[in-house]
Amino acid sequence: MKTIDDLLDEVGGDLKGKRVLVRSDLNVPLDGATITDDGRVRASVPTIQKLIGLGARVLVVAHLGRPKGEPDPQYSLAPVAARLSELLGQPVRFAADTVDVDAQRTAAELNDGDVALLENVRFNAGETSKDDAERGAFADRLAELADVFVSDGFGVVHRKQASVYDIASRLPSAVGGLVQAEVEVLQRLTASPERPYAVVLGGSKVSDKLGVIDHLMTKADTLVIGGGMVFTFLAAQGHGVGTSLLEQDQIDVAKGYLDRADEMGVSIVLPTDVVVAPEFKADAPATTVAIDAIPDDQMGLDIGPDSSAAFAEVVRGARTVFWNGPMGVFEMAAFSSGTRAVAEALTQVDGLSVVGGGDSAAAVRQLGFEDSQFGHISTGGGASLEYLEGKTLPGLSVLEEGS
Ligand code: 3PG
Repeated sequence: MKTIDDLLDEVGGDLKGKRVLVRSDLNVPLDGATITDDGRVRASVPTIQKLIGLGARVLVVAHLGRPKGEPDPQYSLAPVAARLSELLGQPVRFAADTVDVDAQRTAAELNDGDVALLENVRFNAGETSKDDAERGAFADRLAELADVFVSDGFGVVHRKQASVYDIASRLPSAVGGLVQAEVEVLQRLTASPERPYAVVLGGSKVSDKLGVIDHLMTKADTLVIGGGMVFTFLAAQGHGVGTSLLEQDQIDVAKGYLDRADEMGVSIVLPTDVVVAPEFKADAPATTVAIDAIPDDQMGLDIGPDSSAAFAEVVRGARTVFWNGPMGVFEMAAFSSGTRAVAEALTQVDGLSVVGGGDSAAAVRQLGFEDSQFGHISTGGGASLEYLEGKTLPGLSVLEEGS
């Protein structure tokens, strides 16, 4: 993949006077207009700064949430423009549309070293269209705004969308530093990870993780499973799970994985105890029970202390760890201990520890850990899982084709 430095040669040695469209992933959690985790905004800063330093006129394009292809004020990127401006220490002009009058005027008025953010690209139906022609037509309009494209939104490289995929074949393109760094870490996890290699998976749905479990079963030495998805595995082992999250239609699949792991000599570590409560509420009375004693009228909301200790030991003993998905409802203090124990153990790994995006990244920050305590915190949950599944990621393959 071509880097920004490679691109420089192609466009005449510098970016002065050039309008550079940067696809960043600025899809951050918002509470009203307040950003509750600005990790993705911070992660996007170095590439933008590099482009500013090269004298480029930087137009950032990004999405927020999943609006339905038309403007929807609750998904406006305006609060993100303000945060980006604070982090860059310079004004960030915000265009009230993505490719229409305001975007065009903004693009035309940028001076060297200026930065603007375009309104949510998903306010345009063409961005996510499954119809190649419709997506292509929108990508044409995006391309008209700029001279060069830089792909830096790692969290969206698994999406075949206009601002991620189609645009790259319309402008001279390069990969940004964030995507480059993320891919390098994922390559270390896939090529020849130092062993033991432990993978910790959590989150609510088994069905989201099937591909990755399947693939990692042949790569990792130990799979540690917690979070809401674990109850489907516990049910597969014949345990009653009360009112816990359960994907009935995945029980046989989970059983298949347990059997296959046995045959292959891969260790799947499941909890031995869980924290249960009668309802999904922060102040619901919590108790710890063994996994064969989950009351019929209670739901598991975290792994228990014995499981936390066992999971932490596996993590600490590994030389390579990839973690995706919280162990429980970490947003509620009473059910956050399991996630905290796993996060803490990751900080003690003598080797490479990777936090795989989305909820796990938000969890470590919310629980008070520093990014620097981990080897790498990915900005892409879905993207990193798909990479580890061995899938082709359209936003990366299009850049490889072009190089
Ligand atoms: C994410 O939050 O994982 C990325 O920003 C991609 O968002 P999406 O799942 O809505 O495509």
